[in-house]
Amino acid sequence: MRADLVLERCDDLATISSSPDSLTRVHLSPEHRAANDMIEGWMREAGLSTWQDAAGNLCGRREGAEHGMPALLLGSHIDTVPDAGRYDGMLGVLLAIGVASRLQGVELPFALEVVAFSDEEGTRFGNALLGSRALAGTWDDAWWELEDDDGLTLADAFVDFGLDPARLPGAFRRREDLVGYLEAHIEQGPILQDADRSLAVVTSIAGARRLELVMTGRAGHAGGTRFEARRDALVGASEVVVAVERISMERGVLGTVGRIDAEPGGVNVIPGRVVFSLDLRAEADADRDAAIDEIVAAATSIAAARGLTFDHRELYRADATYCDPGLRAAVEAGIQATGDEHPLKFWSRAGHDGMAVAAITPIAMLFLRCRDGISHHPDEAVREEDVAAALDAFEAAVRQLAGSRS
Ligand code: HGY
Ligand code: MN
Ligand code: MN
Repeated sequence: MRADLVLERCDDLATISSSPDSLTRVHLSPEHRAANDMIEGWMREAGLSTWQDAAGNLCGRREGAEHGMPALLLGSHIDTVPDAGRYDGMLGVLLAIGVASRLQGVELPFALEVVAFSDEEGTRFGNALLGSRALAGTWDDAWWELEDDDGLTLADAFVDFGLDPARLPGAFRRREDLVGYLEAHIEQGPILQDADRSLAVVTSIAGARRLELVMTGRAGHAGGTRFEARRDALVGASEVVVAVERISMERGVLGTVGRIDAEPGGVNVIPGRVVFSLDLRAEADADRDAAIDEIVAAATSIAAARGLTFDHRELYRADATYCDPGLRAAVEAGIQATGDEHPLKFWSRAGHDGMAVAAITPIAMLFLRCRDGISHHPDEAVREEDVAAALDAFEAAVRQLAGSRS
């Protein structure tokens, strides 16, 4: 398998979108089904036997030297953020299939599996990692009640997709059946480009939490309501947005308000209620949690000063995850095999499926350069030479692991 084919397949997958002019593909949608079908064909070509698991993850497997050996998992996700780039997640799945294809006919001391995870971003239901948490068996039944923007529950979306919520445990994998999990992913940051390098070893993945924030005031007439009498929820929320940036910068963490809905939403109506989001991540969970405490305290006092009320609830939490030293060494050796004797090593600011999979098996990751560090944007871009290097390094890492276990 060559890099140009991997990139061609990224282009093919990018045509599967719920909107004609941009790429958006969410969990359990008709586009998810179409993407699974397309990827299944490529998995079969790579010599894998395929199945869709009880959570909608598409899986492919080839046996090792003996039937039924524990598996090394390779993979990433195929869901996207709204108006996404074409490489975040998808490239990792296609590189994994490329590695499986290259290793056809090579006897391995473990089974090799590729997983295309159904949900990493959490775009549709707010709570991320639903595909990989199902595989890891760290599922919370409270999630069945999560709703999408149309009020459809996760349980209903499973049924619409042809899945049975009662059968979800069928997707859970057992620790003893796994060797580990390796994922290749674009960096989604500028470190590799600034250093003029193609690939890096990931040391750990940032801990993250996502909250829904609600500021409540009183709707009223934009002309008839004096400023002293206003309880403008959007002005209060705006102060919180600015506080999120200030507190995040002071504490060296990454805080973002990416979504804001003002109700009732009339141009001539003072906003009475604002629902907005907070995504907060940091290398260490303690820093993440301290920043959230400070933001909540700031929002509470902003609300009090304006006669508003402030509420919040957590939608998603994933703790910082450390890459396994043994698997990390294999990734490092893989990169070294491409001629980079001293690969860069740094932590991932972005979340990844490995955060969930780490609950049941060791994980490690390989990063590749993306143009200007741009991601979660249609301008995401990679160089063919970096994809070629990633294929070589990923394959060499798997061979290295095989050598160390035989
Ligand atoms: O949001 C993230 O960090 C990831 O891209 N899902
Ligand atoms: Mn992403
Ligand atoms: Mn991703």
